[in-house]
Amino acid sequence: MLGTYLLILLFVILIILVIMTYYIRSVKDEHNKSIEMDLSPVDAVKDSLSGSQSFIYAGIVFTAVGIIASVYFMVKGTQWEMHLMEWMNIIVRLMHITFGIAWIGASFYFVFLENSLNRKKDLRDELAGNLWAVHGGGFYYVEKYKTAPAKIPKDLHWFKYEAYFTWVSGFSLLFVVYYFNASALLIDKNILDITPLTGIGIGVGSFVAGWIVYDLLCKSPIGKKNYLFTVTGVLIAIGFAYLYTKVFSARAAYIHFGAMLGSIMVANVFFVIIPSQKAMVKAAIENKPLNSELGKNAGLRSLHNNYFTLPVLFVMISNHFPSTFGYKYPWLILALFSIGAAGVKHYLNLKEKGQLSIWVMPISALILLAAAFISAPAKYPGECKETVSINQVTEIVNKRCISCHSSKPTDDFYKVAPNGVMFDSPEVIAAKKDLILQRVVVTKTMPLNNKTNISQEERDLIGCWIMQGGSLK
Ligand code: HEC
Repeated sequence: MLGTYLLILLFVILIILVIMTYYIRSVKDEHNKSIEMDLSPVDAVKDSLSGSQSFIYAGIVFTAVGIIASVYFMVKGTQWEMHLMEWMNIIVRLMHITFGIAWIGASFYFVFLENSLNRKKDLRDELAGNLWAVHGGGFYYVEKYKTAPAKIPKDLHWFKYEAYFTWVSGFSLLFVVYYFNASALLIDKNILDITPLTGIGIGVGSFVAGWIVYDLLCKSPIGKKNYLFTVTGVLIAIGFAYLYTKVFSARAAYIHFGAMLGSIMVANVFFVIIPSQKAMVKAAIENKPLNSELGKNAGLRSLHNNYFTLPVLFVMISNHFPSTFGYKYPWLILALFSIGAAGVKHYLNLKEKGQLSIWVMPISALILLAAAFISAPAKYPGECKETVSINQVTEIVNKRCISCHSSKPTDDFYKVAPNGVMFDSPEVIAAKKDLILQRVVVTKTMPLNNKTNISQEERDLIGCWIMQGGSLK
């Protein structure tokens, strides 16, 4: 029954997509024709999307959301629910990574371009610099203008959808991974006992708050002073990291910190960079004097984004490494790593400008090493007074783990063993002892948010059993 529904649905989607693509192509063809015919230059201000096109794109997005929602309600409560979530996770994650690469790639490329321009030799008066490059079997030549060119070209490329789509897919991923599973992954009752809805509200609200604070800081007198701005900004960011770890599970706190920085980056593009560029293009077309503040401001925000990239990438990766968020002061690792990673970016930026800084790299490396050093596990598992038998361990695992990790989980959320890890027999427990050591004894990131209330003594017993060889005796 369900299969038939899905097939019909798929067929309908395919037809809708074909019709929409056909329509978009015809609109695009007309747009290209108007460029060839050299129509009004005002076209350049209206960037690539015309009204009807955005309408169609919005239609596609709503159709997709509608389809996903209806499939979700169809499979809700059946054994396919987890499967659907997993595939949504895969698809949305792939989109997020792909858009992110396109965005950050362009951002890195333009900072590189700015830093490596030839600004001296054989330049026409109107140019700020140029650059020759060879790539992918072709030779490229790029020129940067001091201000706007005398005539704005009709077909001007804007870089912005990469940023917007990265944010939209990232936000969707946040929902798929954390908000749909809020009670299991977002909230840790041992940290703060809140309802899923409150948690989601705080999460989303914090992104708005983060942007407002950052934007006000940029516009305040502090924004004019580089060093003061950096120090204040870093302190506020650490404050956010600290607060997140007091509200959410450590892993969710990390991703919220990254998502907050990512949202600031996109908001920079949406509220500052693109509007400034539009105003510049408009002034150039109307032959009005350019407000040089606009370009400078956009450039500064763009540079901030450049410094945010490595910390944000770290946050995304760290979610897969319990030794980072598993540390007892998770915000400290987050703070150290963010500062260290931004420092490395600073070194690279200086280097591209031909300024070889002596101390930026070593200090950044030291900070990163400090994060690795302090998060190293304390001596575990304390003292082992007696030999621990596999029976003692099995008893603990039965009590604290198999509600999730078994062929028939009894947990209220996990109906299928997470990561396929099932501790149904002593043999499996022994086979997985290294993973168990890491998650239960060292980083203490299992049981998930300590939902089953394991005690420190029980962790120590498991640790002792593994240190004594982890045998089946
Ligand atoms: C509330 C459900 C729940 C309980 C209880 C639980 N886990 Fe987990 N476990 C998960 C989830 C979800 C994951 C996957 C996400 C992650 O790795 O953080 C996981 C992952 C793991 C992994 C990593 C597997 C891999 O492939 O990397 C290990 C090892 C593990 N758990 C061991 C344990 C042990 C041992 C216990 C009991 C002391 C336990 N878990 C209790 C939900 C649970």
